[in-house]
Amino acid sequence: MRALSQKVREIRLSQTLAFTMKARSLKEAGIDVVSLTAGEPDFATPPVIKDAAVRAIAADFTHYTPNQGTRELLLAIIKKFEAENGLYFSPEQILVSSGAKHAVYNALQAICDPGDEVLLFSPHWVSYPDMIRLADGVPVTVPTSMEEDFRPNADRLREAITPRSKAVILNSPSNPTGVVFTREELGAVAAVARRHDLYIISDEIYEKVLFDACIHHSIGADKRVQDQVITVNGMSKAYAMTGWRIGYMGGPVAVIEEAAKVQSQVTSNANSVAQMAALAALSSPVPEVELMRREFEHRRDAAMDILSSIREIEVVRPQGAMYLFFGVRNFYGATVRSSMDMALYLLERHHVGVVPGSAFGDDGCLRISFTCAMEDLTRGVERIKRGLEELLLERTNANV
Ligand SMILES: Cc1ncc(COP(=O)(O)O)c(C=O)c1O
Repeated sequence: MRALSQKVREIRLSQTLAFTMKARSLKEAGIDVVSLTAGEPDFATPPVIKDAAVRAIAADFTHYTPNQGTRELLLAIIKKFEAENGLYFSPEQILVSSGAKHAVYNALQAICDPGDEVLLFSPHWVSYPDMIRLADGVPVTVPTSMEEDFRPNADRLREAITPRSKAVILNSPSNPTGVVFTREELGAVAAVARRHDLYIISDEIYEKVLFDACIHHSIGADKRVQDQVITVNGMSKAYAMTGWRIGYMGGPVAVIEEAAKVQSQVTSNANSVAQMAALAALSSPVPEVELMRREFEHRRDAAMDILSSIREIEVVRPQGAMYLFFGVRNFYGATVRSSMDMALYLLERHHVGVVPGSAFGDDGCLRISFTCAMEDLTRGVERIKRGLEELLLERTNANV
């Protein structure tokens, strides 16, 4: 058989999915595994949203819609952006896609020429580098560190810029670190992007999952860069709608036109019934959003309490999103030498599924999600604690 595409062969299967599948296959083999891998709210989609979808099916709203999305949904998104983010768009500046992931992909396809560099702070969401590669771009990571609480540093961003730099991706609240960028941090990034004429893709999918009274800011509201910013959002996380696959972006007309062209040739419009569900979510009160947020905050606190009681662990308290990203480098030794080894060790020996930090660009860390019931979460985190303490004990025994 002739060789398949070199470009696609170099893309990796998402490590989050890979470890979710590994944990699932152990479960299917009858082992009591607690999986803390998936970034998917465990709540049901709120009734007001499901009802709208049922009505859409009954009314035969089951055909193609305009490629960009239905007029009603575009208008609801415009209203949402104005009311919640201080962003002002006309309908030709919005594109509805099959998830925020699809929106980021379309935006990158619209922006990148072969060899264009796209900057991103690391640790970063698993999918960005491969999506950049699929657009023939080159991912350039700008490290943040646990010692600095994973805060973004605009000076380091500036230092990474070359004549090929074309765009920067921001993700606040961040998956995996839970960092929420302050207005000042966004301002400093905006100044660099303005000076070097970079597009900014701002992935704000976790904007409603905030803790400790943290506030979300949209960089697109900064007048200096408003013509360079593509703001991405979606229904998956805030509304527990991961399976419905609705995301969207707002940005400069030229970018949206090109991204819409890509979409028109690949998938066409996002699912018609799911668009009606998204319309209901954006235009009705959905009290469940706040209830889910509160529950995520309780879970974060419970997981933090257990993790921070482990000797030699490093943890930064997440300010948002649904993840805890913690440092386990101090436990590396003869048996476990990397985050991949550690994730395998915890899964196989202690029956808890986690994602190795290497998937996010930091091999000293692991990520867990708090998207399962409190009881499972605490059971899973206790297993991590046991696993890590066992490694410390092994090391002590080896030294005596
Ligand atoms: C940072 C980030 N962006 C986008 C997505 C994907 O969202 P969607 O389900 O809308 O495609 C995820 C999902 O994990 C994510 O973590």
